[in-house]
Amino acid sequence: MDLYEYQARDLFEAHGVPVLRGITATTPDEAKSAAAELATPVVVVKAQVKTGGRGKAGGVKIAKSPDEAAAKAEEILGLDIKGHVVKTLMIAEGADIAEEYYFSVLLDRANRRYLAMCSKEGGVEIEQLAVERPEALARVEVDPLVGIDEAKAKEIVDQAGFDAETGAKIAPVLIKLYGVYTAEDATLVEVNPLVKTGAGDIIALDGKVTIDENADFRHPDHAALVDNAATDPLEVKAKEKGLNYVKLDGEVGIIGNGAGLVMSTLDVVAYAGEQHGVKPANFLDIGGGANAQVMADGLDVILGDEQVRTVFVNVFGGITACDEVANGIKGALEILGDNATKPLVVRLDGNNVDKGRAILNELNHPLVTQVDTMDGAAAEAAELAAAK
Ligand SMILES: Nc1ncnc2c1ncn2[C@@H]1O[C@H](COP(=O)(O)OP(=O)(O)OP(=O)(O)O)[C@@H](O)[C@H]1O
Ligand SMILES: [Mg+2]
Repeated sequence: MDLYEYQARDLFEAHGVPVLRGITATTPDEAKSAAAELATPVVVVKAQVKTGGRGKAGGVKIAKSPDEAAAKAEEILGLDIKGHVVKTLMIAEGADIAEEYYFSVLLDRANRRYLAMCSKEGGVEIEQLAVERPEALARVEVDPLVGIDEAKAKEIVDQAGFDAETGAKIAPVLIKLYGVYTAEDATLVEVNPLVKTGAGDIIALDGKVTIDENADFRHPDHAALVDNAATDPLEVKAKEKGLNYVKLDGEVGIIGNGAGLVMSTLDVVAYAGEQHGVKPANFLDIGGGANAQVMADGLDVILGDEQVRTVFVNVFGGITACDEVANGIKGALEILGDNATKPLVVRLDGNNVDKGRAILNELNHPLVTQVDTMDGAAAEAAELAAAK
């Protein structure tokens, strides 16, 4: 989960990273009172969107009075920044910037390490710098068992080419930022710019943090960071029901039991759909215990996706036998009633397959087609989706 800048700012503050005060606002009036409360000669009005390049898109503006803050807020609210519409602002204290640096630490999956990146030349042109002069961006491996300690922090600032005095000021901040990274179970902590002020202080002026949701069980407080309004409503619904659901772009809805089976189902549907110009619409794993309610919840989520034209239910009976799954589908169709409107192509195999197929044959539901093989069912689902 990506966090908003103001959420990252709060986490930074909680872990002792030097930041400036910031207050969120959703209207020009709120921006005005926030600026009045900060009472600094300059405030910065900043769009809160989960994408980079806000400054360049006109989403970061300086204001020298509360009235001006309200005016800038008016300009920025509603702005579309790379598909993200600005609904929230952060009004931040204005910093007296002498220099802008860059620092990030992230999970480097391929190398089974963390990777720290640091540059003396931070700011809004960092992407360009990384492409045109990669040598100006220090890349330092971090062993997760050691982390960014004093020695590693020194290595990072030295490699980035800081002079000894500045390096000595930055290093402790990097250690604190690494503290955020580990304590919050983040996969990314990025600060651009990390600035040196006229007075020589080091401050994190912007923050991007990505939280590893697999560690949510360790962080009950992270639930408050979720912005349901900005999440796909079907994903929210699926999460509430405890389903593993990922929305994709296509037209063929997919339900399977077990992530491996669902992934290979995506492949066969993508393959079968190629000649019809249709693709998988989602990934939905109902897991091992597919009773009627779980199946109903899964179908309910998928049928709620307007893009879906057919649903392919691909189940391999194991611990949950095919007859239970078939009863689940039957029960789901009863629960959903008129809400079930799209064709279901069902492929059952495995434990008690004969009983399962018999149950669906007997049901003889107009929306349900049974196909015995996975490839055949994928072709049928793709064809029906294309015909719609
Ligand atoms: N509190 C502040 N005081 C003074 N200047 C600021 C402040 N916050 C941001 N700026 C200036 O605005 C620029 C852009 O701000 P910021 O980095 O927050 O936005 P950004 O567009 O998200 O950048 P990017 O996505 O490229 O990292 C900064 O590089 C800095 O020069
Ligand atoms: Mg930035």
